[in-house]
Amino acid sequence: MEPAEKASAALVLIASLIGLVGADDNAIGTGSILSTTGNTAWLSSSGQFAFGFYKEGSGFTVGIKFFPMPNSNYSTVIWTADRDHQPISANANLTFGSEGLVLHLDEGDRIITDSYDGSSQLAFASMKNSGNFIVYDSEYNLAWQTFDNPTDTLMVGQTFPMGHNLISSVSENNQSSGRFRFTMQTDGNVILYPVNTRNTVTNAYWGLGTSGYNSLVLDHDGSLRLTDLNFKGQSFFPSLNSSPDMSVDFLRIEADGYLRIYSTNKSGLMMVSGQIPTNNNKCFIKGVCGLNSYCNSTGNGDVQCLCLPGYIYIDRSRVLVGCERNFTRWSCEAVNGSTGNSAFYKISTLHNITWSDDSYNISTVKSDHECSDACFRDCNCYAALFLPSTKLCKKQRYPYQYGRALFVKDEPTVAFFKVGLAEQENQLSVKPVSRKNLRVLGTVPLVLPLLLTATFAVVLDFLIFFLCRYRMGMYRRLCESMETGLAKAMAPRSFSYKQLKDATDGYKEEIGEGIYGKVYRGLLPPCDAGTPIAVKKLKNVRGKVEEKFRNELKSIGRVHHRNLVRLLGFCHEGSDWILVYEYMSRGSLADLIFQSHEARPSWKQRVSIAMDVARGLYYLHEGCDVAIIHGDIKPENVLIGDDGIAKIGDLGLAKHLQPGNQITYTRSRGTPGYKAPEWAKPCDWVSPKVDVVSFGVLLLELLCLKKFCLVQELDGEYNLASWAYKCLKEQTKWQVPGGDVDAEELKEMIKVALWCLHGSPEKRPSMYDVVMMLGRKKIVEFPPVPLLDWNGRADAGQPPMAVAESNNFPAARG
Ligand SMILES: *[C@@H]1O[C@H](CO)[C@@H](O)[C@H](O)[C@H]1NC(C)=O
Ligand SMILES: *[C@@H]1O[C@H](CO)[C@@H](O)[C@H](O)[C@H]1NC(C)=O
Ligand SMILES: *[C@@H]1O[C@H](CO)[C@@H](O)[C@H](O)[C@H]1NC(C)=O
Ligand SMILES: *[C@@H]1O[C@H](CO)[C@@H](O)[C@H](O)[C@H]1NC(C)=O
Ligand SMILES: *[C@@H]1O[C@H](CO)[C@@H](O)[C@H](O)[C@H]1NC(C)=O
Ligand SMILES: *[C@@H]1O[C@H](CO)[C@@H](O)[C@H](O)[C@H]1NC(C)=O
Ligand SMILES: *[C@@H]1O[C@H](CO)[C@@H](O)[C@H](O)[C@H]1NC(C)=O
Ligand SMILES: *[C@@H]1O[C@H](CO)[C@@H](O)[C@H](O)[C@H]1NC(C)=O
Ligand SMILES: *[C@@H]1O[C@H](CO)[C@@H](O)[C@H](O)[C@H]1NC(C)=O
Repeated sequence: MEPAEKASAALVLIASLIGLVGADDNAIGTGSILSTTGNTAWLSSSGQFAFGFYKEGSGFTVGIKFFPMPNSNYSTVIWTADRDHQPISANANLTFGSEGLVLHLDEGDRIITDSYDGSSQLAFASMKNSGNFIVYDSEYNLAWQTFDNPTDTLMVGQTFPMGHNLISSVSENNQSSGRFRFTMQTDGNVILYPVNTRNTVTNAYWGLGTSGYNSLVLDHDGSLRLTDLNFKGQSFFPSLNSSPDMSVDFLRIEADGYLRIYSTNKSGLMMVSGQIPTNNNKCFIKGVCGLNSYCNSTGNGDVQCLCLPGYIYIDRSRVLVGCERNFTRWSCEAVNGSTGNSAFYKISTLHNITWSDDSYNISTVKSDHECSDACFRDCNCYAALFLPSTKLCKKQRYPYQYGRALFVKDEPTVAFFKVGLAEQENQLSVKPVSRKNLRVLGTVPLVLPLLLTATFAVVLDFLIFFLCRYRMGMYRRLCESMETGLAKAMAPRSFSYKQLKDATDGYKEEIGEGIYGKVYRGLLPPCDAGTPIAVKKLKNVRGKVEEKFRNELKSIGRVHHRNLVRLLGFCHEGSDWILVYEYMSRGSLADLIFQSHEARPSWKQRVSIAMDVARGLYYLHEGCDVAIIHGDIKPENVLIGDDGIAKIGDLGLAKHLQPGNQITYTRSRGTPGYKAPEWAKPCDWVSPKVDVVSFGVLLLELLCLKKFCLVQELDGEYNLASWAYKCLKEQTKWQVPGGDVDAEELKEMIKVALWCLHGSPEKRPSMYDVVMMLGRKKIVEFPPVPLLDWNGRADAGQPPMAVAESNNFPAARG
């Protein structure tokens, strides 16, 4: 045996002695290897679970297969690594080493355990009889497990934590991410949604309506059990056709959007024992059909997606994607200026369909005819829904989402669509005209006869033809790129000014303002209900700012991490510089911790946000090929998404370090109050440790839900750090908001924060140390007296009172 293998074997032995790996578990030591040609899987001791290569299409994928009956030929995939990668061709192998599970491919290596932070040497792994594949480090700590990264399946007993999604697969034979998601929301509700939608009632097609819970488990009796932080809970039984001798195995969100619970009976027959929602009409599932189409069941249990009148499939080969307009919308002026609507449009009627109501005008009318007429005459109306029973006429906003034929119980409807006339029906010889062209036509002397008009018509024809072609092309491309585009590896793309103007509806909804400009909410053109984006319009982009902007593009364009806000694209036209980011629905951490009293985060959320920010920074400092200093870490620059995950944004101040060079020359940056002292000295050398100080301040603010220097509230202490230090030293009780605070955990985290505020950069922990300490993988020593002045005005290390008098912490920041 090689020495390494010997050591590994010894560890495995010890592990089994201390009970981590049960006597009947198969422990996998470092140096173990699987290959597509030889030994393809590591089995659980029961033989029911196999971790390794399985066949997908013509290639292989790494994952876990479940055999309800050992030795039976029936199996199902319960977990997949890197599900959105193309399958692996033959000749690959998978090794388990101290750095994790590594897949060796012809085109390069890929780390399967990539969410593991690399804090310690990995020592052994085990395929458990629960269906969990666990990796342990040399100190027998659990370092990584597949249960933390579920794909579409949750095994019995597996905890589904708050803020997570299960995402359906494309099909039974293709485990790539599909179109539906099951989510345990941070508000404690459990909901089914189409993917790429916001967590809103309009998008949900099933929900439990619960609140206050923070985890969900599938129980052995087939119920969904919800629990809160105090382990109090409630159970929900989906429609169950089970019998006592069946054993519940797992739940799965399936390609058709249903959540199903699977069980096996004693002869190993696997069957569905529960289904959510219970409605068997697949048109009930929102997002089954794309925009501007509607779903109708074919009778044999299947569905078809049909375009609304006037709309055609975006892609004929993939009709589920949705439909796009097949006629021109003329400007209101053009319609007004000519013989009227009937020269351009007609009304098409469809009975007994409905869609997600998004009306901009509701009126009571006498007849269906009056409703159709109201829409026909309204220049902005292209669809209206008439309800005969109430005589309501609802004019609808474009696009039309979640369309479907009525169910038996629904009240009848009549839908009107204003659609363009086909060319031969169009009675005008002159094509649609824009405002400008109308004016030109108006000034042409009447004596100049038809000839001129005809010429205009031809020229306009051409223009419009090309414009439409161009626009339609753009629309398609954008749609395509959004579909595949939110895939992990997407690089920022370039948008046109017009696209962004449309996406933000003319910069209507402002969601924030920073020193460099305003931020607006937008929606990328509707493919899968539109992807929300944040559009940052930079002002005065010249000179220094332009340089900053280019820096921002360069540095964050290339970094991708769960805890860093993604840059999706940018736009540069003339003097306009615009950045497009993923939309973070819950706003900034500053809003969360300083402003809203009701919505303030629970203790658990605070801890997880702290970890998120620490991991994001750790990645910036050590995870990229060049270290990146953020330079402006503060709660305003940390954003929270729908799922409650915190991400670091505004990397605009970031500046690259040269590879292999730990320090760099730089001018002073950052926000007063969060700045490290070394910033203050002109022409100093700074290292990533400047971010550690800012993180320390942020961590204290997050834990205490207080601004760092609210002097009056802190019984005589002049800032959170000195207050926390005093409490720590005198072992007084922590006065921190929130009934659920874990005092012991708080103490440990405060110690970490105080270490971050150490006056000399060398003595401060690195972000790696911080991640380790916050994760309780490293013991936190008693901290030093906190740094007292990071604006560089007083000497570091002076007693608190001296600094308090100098009052060098600006009250307002931001
Ligand atoms: C699985 O589906 C994805 C997305 O539709 C597709 O890109 C991929 O090629 C499919 N894989 C296989 C093996 O068919
Ligand atoms: C299992 O094997 C039996 C006999 O070999 C065959 O009849 C059956 O269809 C197989 N079942 C599956 C799920 O492949
Ligand atoms: C694993 O695969 C890589 C690339 O295919 C190959 O170079 C290497 O020799 C293989 N290792 C073993 C032990 O088979
Ligand atoms: C399992 O289910 C199948 C089909 O319903 C049935 O034929 C078989 O007898 C069942 N086995 C046991 C042990 O109940
Ligand atoms: C839906 O399909 C059925 C036949 O399966 C047909 O009778 C019905 O008219 C269709 N509904 C709509 C709104 O197209
Ligand atoms: C259309 O013309 C009518 C009267 O001619 C006028 O009241 C209305 O404002 C015009 N609408 C638009 C959109 O120009
Ligand atoms: C709704 O539209 C009708 C005409 O269709 C109009 O008379 C009414 O004023 C509109 N209501 C609102 C609130 O705009
Ligand atoms: C619409 O549905 C109602 C009630 O189910 C039915 O009476 C009516 O005939 C339907 N209309 C059409 C055009 O199918
Ligand atoms: C789309 O519009 C064109 C031009 O009006 C027409 O010829 C064509 O038939 C339409 N396509 C569909 C599917 O309606």
